[in-house]
Amino acid sequence: MEKFIDLISRRVSDAFAAAGLPADLGKVTVSNRPDLCEYQCNGAMPAAKQAHRPPLELAEAVAAQLRGEAMFARVEAVRPGFLNFTADPAYLRDYVARMAVEPAYGLEREASPKTVVVDYGGPNVAKPLHVGHLRSAIIGESVKRIGRYFGNKVIGDIHMGDWGLQMGLIIEELHERRPELPYFDLDFTGDYPAEAPFTISELEEIYPTASAKSKVDEDFARRAHDATYLLQTGVRGYKALWDHIMRISTEDLRKNYDKLDVHFDVWLGESDAQPYIPPMLERMKAQGIVTESEGALVVDVQQPTDTKEVPPCILVKSDGATLYATTDLATLVQRMEDFKPDKVLYLTDKRQALHFEQVFRTARKSGIVPETVELQHLGFGTMNGKDGKPFKTREGGVMRLERLIGEITDYVRQKITENQVVDQTAVEETARLIAMAALKYGDLSNQPTKDYVFDLERFAAFEGNTGPYILYTIVRIKSILNKYGAAVDAQAVLPPETKEAKDLMLVLTRFADGLQAAYQDNAPNAICAYIYELAGAANKFYHETRILAEPDQAKQAGYVALMDLTRRVLETSIDLLGFAAPERM
Ligand code: ARG
Repeated sequence: MEKFIDLISRRVSDAFAAAGLPADLGKVTVSNRPDLCEYQCNGAMPAAKQAHRPPLELAEAVAAQLRGEAMFARVEAVRPGFLNFTADPAYLRDYVARMAVEPAYGLEREASPKTVVVDYGGPNVAKPLHVGHLRSAIIGESVKRIGRYFGNKVIGDIHMGDWGLQMGLIIEELHERRPELPYFDLDFTGDYPAEAPFTISELEEIYPTASAKSKVDEDFARRAHDATYLLQTGVRGYKALWDHIMRISTEDLRKNYDKLDVHFDVWLGESDAQPYIPPMLERMKAQGIVTESEGALVVDVQQPTDTKEVPPCILVKSDGATLYATTDLATLVQRMEDFKPDKVLYLTDKRQALHFEQVFRTARKSGIVPETVELQHLGFGTMNGKDGKPFKTREGGVMRLERLIGEITDYVRQKITENQVVDQTAVEETARLIAMAALKYGDLSNQPTKDYVFDLERFAAFEGNTGPYILYTIVRIKSILNKYGAAVDAQAVLPPETKEAKDLMLVLTRFADGLQAAYQDNAPNAICAYIYELAGAANKFYHETRILAEPDQAKQAGYVALMDLTRRVLETSIDLLGFAAPERM
């Protein structure tokens, strides 16, 4: 369905042409003086410059072309040469009624859908999830859902960090604690136990202990290095331990991400890329793009147009170890083979920008990824505490995700218990939903690249530009619909009679504009801005209109249809942001 504003723009452009003026000057925008009109066009001014005629005269000539036009209730040419438009209520009504029955409310989906891999989450196995991974999960999930809504095939890959030194540290620490375990007996040929020799809480203690030890105990650090090497060369017992670590950790990760309503399609990790590394390196060497530099193998990626220095991409260190970039390149080989994507999008902290620049350039130079496939890094800012520094616990440590969610949920639970509108049995689920809305909207309402301050009281407030406010608006509408009782007829919408009804309808027509902005720029904040405006218009309408007490049945059905469409648009939008509304709150 053509966007409402595009319909208007197209009609006004035709009028420009009919008046003998350039059609492209007929572009219409939402009015920045809503007290005067709903839409405006400033094209008569540049047209006047070109034609050396007074702008008002040209604006009047265009307006004359539009007299009697069904889409406008009013067309005015005003000094010095503005064109002001007001939409016709019946025309607007028809558009909104059509939206109500069109799939995706008339939003135009991707004409040629793409296959997109979204690489997000990126947790490091056996290390606890912390708020640093939170943004990747929240933004990535939303970007994935938006991409799908536009009709694309989007594959979400968690890309776990499951192959690094942390694995060797854990194995070596375990080795010290339980040297009798068969995993460390290199001559052992029997079956290893099916049960892991640790629980998730033990595992979570083992890693920080080992990591701290490696910083003060050189010998331990060296042995952890060796253990990593033995694991990576495929020593049987180490591989068996690694399998245990993976199973226990992914179970825990899954639980955490489920709680966040973040769902991956594939659970691959750095380890899965390893088999692709040796043949990839061979090919790159044969291509002659690999050079040796102080014993390391690197690819030079500096380009003549660069204004800053872009250091070479290091593939193999002088000690033979491969790196983060090597794994990311091998992962691209795997993705090209398995998914044949049109685009690969990565979500990490923006401090990894240089890493991805190097990886992308190497991927192009080696032909791993052809120019036709888009590679993009969406680098996001930091979630800070009120002190403006990266968010920490009260004691100053890195906040664990589980605990952060727990704290928000506790806060919200207390609030809704005080309000006493939620049934005792629904308190837990309601608190969870509101907490998610607070957390996710608090994050997503900012431009991804910006840092933001996590402020529990503000994010969880039921008023203002917050997730709970949006939920509250939805809950309020649901309550009206419940009290109305009868089935909603989406076609019962009537031409608006009040300013509030008309404003609400005009905002509804802008659904596709908000979503398109979010889709094009990977900017879920555009959806937040849209639904905040929509919720505001809905609350004003609700405030000014007697819906349930309206004696005229046709009018009442019209109001209800409008409320229901608003609810559907809001619920669709928050689903794209990754959260949902409760029944009451
Ligand atoms: N595990 C990494 C980290 O914690 C993030 C991985 C992001 N994805 C990637 N393909 N490099 O920083």
